[in-house]
Amino acid sequence: MRTAYRASIYHCLTDPGRDPADAATEYYEDGILVVDEGRIAEVGPAAKIAASLADDAAVENLSGKLILPGFIDCHVHYSQLDIIAAYGEQLLDWLHRYAYPEEAKFADAGHAAKVADAFLDELLRNGITTANVFATVHPQSVDAIFEAARRRGMRLVAGKVLMDQHCPENLRDDPESAYADSKALIERWHGNGRLGYAITPRFALTSSEAQLEAAGRLAAEYPDTWVHTHLAENREEVDEIARQFPDSRSYLDVYERFGLVRQRSVFAHCLHVDDTDRALLAGNRAAGAFCPTSNLFLGSGLFNLRAMADAGVNVGLATDVGGGTSLSMLRTMSAAYKVLHLQGQPLPADQAIYLATLGAARALGLDDVIGNFEVGKEADFIVVDPLASIMTARRSQTAETIDELLFSLIFLGDDRNIVSTYVEGRSAGGSGIP
Ligand code: GUN
Ligand code: ZN
Repeated sequence: MRTAYRASIYHCLTDPGRDPADAATEYYEDGILVVDEGRIAEVGPAAKIAASLADDAAVENLSGKLILPGFIDCHVHYSQLDIIAAYGEQLLDWLHRYAYPEEAKFADAGHAAKVADAFLDELLRNGITTANVFATVHPQSVDAIFEAARRRGMRLVAGKVLMDQHCPENLRDDPESAYADSKALIERWHGNGRLGYAITPRFALTSSEAQLEAAGRLAAEYPDTWVHTHLAENREEVDEIARQFPDSRSYLDVYERFGLVRQRSVFAHCLHVDDTDRALLAGNRAAGAFCPTSNLFLGSGLFNLRAMADAGVNVGLATDVGGGTSLSMLRTMSAAYKVLHLQGQPLPADQAIYLATLGAARALGLDDVIGNFEVGKEADFIVVDPLASIMTARRSQTAETIDELLFSLIFLGDDRNIVSTYVEGRSAGGSGIP
């Protein structure tokens, strides 16, 4: 079944931070996106594509709206949906006071299923079609999020959290169960439809060496799974790691020693790293997740995108809810702009969109299937309505270029502007009917 969507259409072909913007992005003010069996069949100017459409082709007229690729959230905790915006702590205290008690509730599979449904509906309402998700230490929390994603047809990466020390007793696994439970979950879920598994040691502080070794063993046994963890987010955390691993050159070096720095490894934060670390990430084709609202909220630090890009590290944008304060990728982009502005690093709209779409797909190693509208990719896209809220409507009247419109949407827009979200060509959510 072919369906054509007529609207303004914008996407990235490469990285606008590296290549000239006119070659890196494509924009059709009056465009048509053709979807066939859940895949992108064609994209281009309406004048050209309309002529080639069969007379009986279904054309959805979305004039005045803007179609973008679905957003990709490279790092988020679904279990923390209900502790978002918890007052007043930095990372380690915040974990103990808010995150761990909340995560203990996910021992109950019924609770996990309810939160998983609410979480994914919220992602879709915000135009996020793919996410790289931390579950909790409980295997049933992983089943819950994958079941919920499968029902919605979403492409999703998730994994069971591994943690066996320096955390509450009721959230501890051990190296043997961490290995066995993760292995069983990989066998059940990895490559099952659009779902992929991430081996997920929480961070080096909460895993014993035996557990990091077990994670590394799994990472070697299943090389096309993801590895997903946190790296160098907070100064106190980094100091603690240095005490715990006195023989390691750096925090990243701990993960490297256990074989956890490899293609499809995704490291959230990467704030307090140096150029040797960045070179190691790039050399091993591992990626960084940039979590600006979280880094500001928890007072963690400023992500150095230029240094990561210069080193050749793939970086994707991430909400990191519940340390992050919003599931809106538009708000997350605006926070990224501010974090980079403070460091003298400009972030034009095209690069912000890149970080949330094709750049994020590259960071996850999924750019062969998602991230833009190349023919044959999976048809994950969103319909954005600049008129859906008062201020975006006002500002869109004075925006003279697509870059100006996108920039104003990044700063003034939110979930109200994401009127519908499509996964594999099927309408799956959004704030309204376009
Ligand atoms: N480091 C280890 N666990 C967490 C977490 O849940 N959130 C954040 N932001 N950082 C972490
Ligand atoms: Zn996190």
